This record gives sequence, structure tokens and C-alpha cells, in this order.
Amino acid sequence: MPVDMELEMFLRPKQYPMPPYPPKMITLANGKKMVVRQAKREDVPAILKSVHPCMFIKRDYYDIVSARLYGELLAFYYHRSKSQFVLMGQVDGFLVGVVNSRMENEKVGMSYHTLAIDRGLRIGSHLFAAKMEYHMEYLNQESVLIVAESPIGFRRWMVEYPLEATTIPHELGGGDSYQLTRDIYFKAKPRLVAGVRPVPQDLLDEAEAEIKFADDDTIRERIAGLKGR
Ligand SMILES: CC(C)(COP(=O)(O)OP(=O)(O)OC[C@H]1O[C@@H](n2cnc3c(N)ncnc32)[C@H](O)[C@@H]1OP(=O)(O)O)[C@@H](O)C(=O)NCCC(=O)NCCS
Repeated sequence: MPVDMELEMFLRPKQYPMPPYPPKMITLANGKKMVVRQAKREDVPAILKSVHPCMFIKRDYYDIVSARLYGELLAFYYHRSKSQFVLMGQVDGFLVGVVNSRMENEKVGMSYHTLAIDRGLRIGSHLFAAKMEYHMEYLNQESVLIVAESPIGFRRWMVEYPLEATTIPHELGGGDSYQLTRDIYFKAKPRLVAGVRPVPQDLLDEAEAEIKFADDDTIRERIAGLKGR
């Protein structure tokens, strides 16, 4: 489809300059190494292959979170969201989790979603922490607005950090925002923000070579099957 660049100038929102998020490596509880790195726009179609099957898993609100994330990733791909960034976790090249967020302005971040595609290893927790690390330490923001859509999310972010309740509305249209301040972030950092840099070159090469996706049944079992709930 040919793109009318003159019209596109009106459709594309403002983008703040964002320094790149430097990749890091996290050793998971099972000993596997997870590479956490920033996704490029061209990575979106490969990421969507792993998000799509999650849209049909009702357990623990995977369906609503994945459907919303799917739309936000398309908005990132087609330049339809303001200053969005996407980070992902890969183990052996396979995508195991995705987080996304954006800059509302220079000072305030607007957290979107966190999706753990493999479970029981705190992959979601590590990726959410990486997203906050980017907001606070690389974008140098003062606060990030966050809402939870699931009880597990509420436990992981609002309770574990703990975040501060506000009466500020959130773009996702749920309950009022909670916020992460710089003070809360740096207090929580030793407990919750993991990883080493630089990533060993062989691991980075493997991650960058291909964003692999597991088949639908494997993803379903990883998310919903292990505990037979
Ligand atoms: C919220 C989320 C990102 C947290 O990811 P995480 O930190 O990797 O945590 P897990 O999902 O593996 O585990 C969360 C809890 O569920 C339990 N659990 C539930 N189903 C499980 C399964 N199939 N396998 C392993 N653990 C499971 C874990 O034991 C864990 O218990 P704990 O809180 O006592 O540690 C992830 O659950 C997720 O993607 N949920 C769906 C989308 C969502 O709700 N996103 C957040 C929106 S606010």
C-alpha cells in the first residue's frame, strides 16, 4: 500500500528523543539466561506471532492484556502512538515476554502492558523492572503512571514496589493511576531490578538473529497448563 507522506505528517504523533535502552542479561531461577533488549519497529511482526495465541487464553486476564498489547504494538509499527518503546525478553532466541510504555512528556511516563509468555520464573517482574529502569535511568523521568488489569499485576507492581496511589486518570481508562517516583524506584532497585551488562556477544547475536516463537499449544501450556488450574 503506497503511503501518502504528506498526509502521514498529520497522522504521526510527536516523538520525544529517546536514547537507546542498552541490552542486559538476567539469569533466571532455572539457570537459563534471558536477554532483555529494545525492539525495533521492524521487530513487531515477529513479536505479534507470540502475542497472538495469548489473546485466546482467559486465565489470569491474558486475553484482555494481550489484545490491548497487540493493538499498541500495531500502533508502534504504523507510527500511531506517541513516543512508545517496547522491550522484550528472549531465552535461546525465543520470545518469553514483552513490555511496552511511552513518554507522555519529558517528565512523565505512561506505562502500558507487561506480558509474561513463560511463567513461574518472574519473567514479567524482571521485564516490568527493565521498563521502569528505562524510564528512570535512561529517559531520566520523574514519574511513571501505572494501572493494573489483573490481580497478579496488582500484587507485582502496586504491592511489591510499593507504588503510590494518585487520583490521576490513566490512558488505559481503568482505575486511577498509581505512580512510580524516582524515590520509590531507587529504593526498590536493589530488590527488583536485575541484570548484567554487557550481554555476552554470542547471546546477543543469537537474540538478534531471530525472534523465535513457540507453537500455540506450547504457549498455552506454559501460561495456563503447568499448575492445572
Ligand atoms: C502479571 C505477569 C506479567 C507477572 O509475570 P511474572 O512476574 O513472570 O509472574 P508469573 O505470571 O509467572 O507468576 C505470577 C504468580 O502466578 C503463579 N502462577 C499462576 N499460573 C502459573 C503457571 N501456569 N505457571 C507458573 N506459575 C503460575 C505463580 O506461582 C506466581 O505466584 P507468586 O505471585 O506467588 O509468585 C504475568 O502473570 C502476566 O503476563 N499476566 C497476564 C497479563 C497481565 O496481567 N499483565 C499485567 C497487567 S497489570
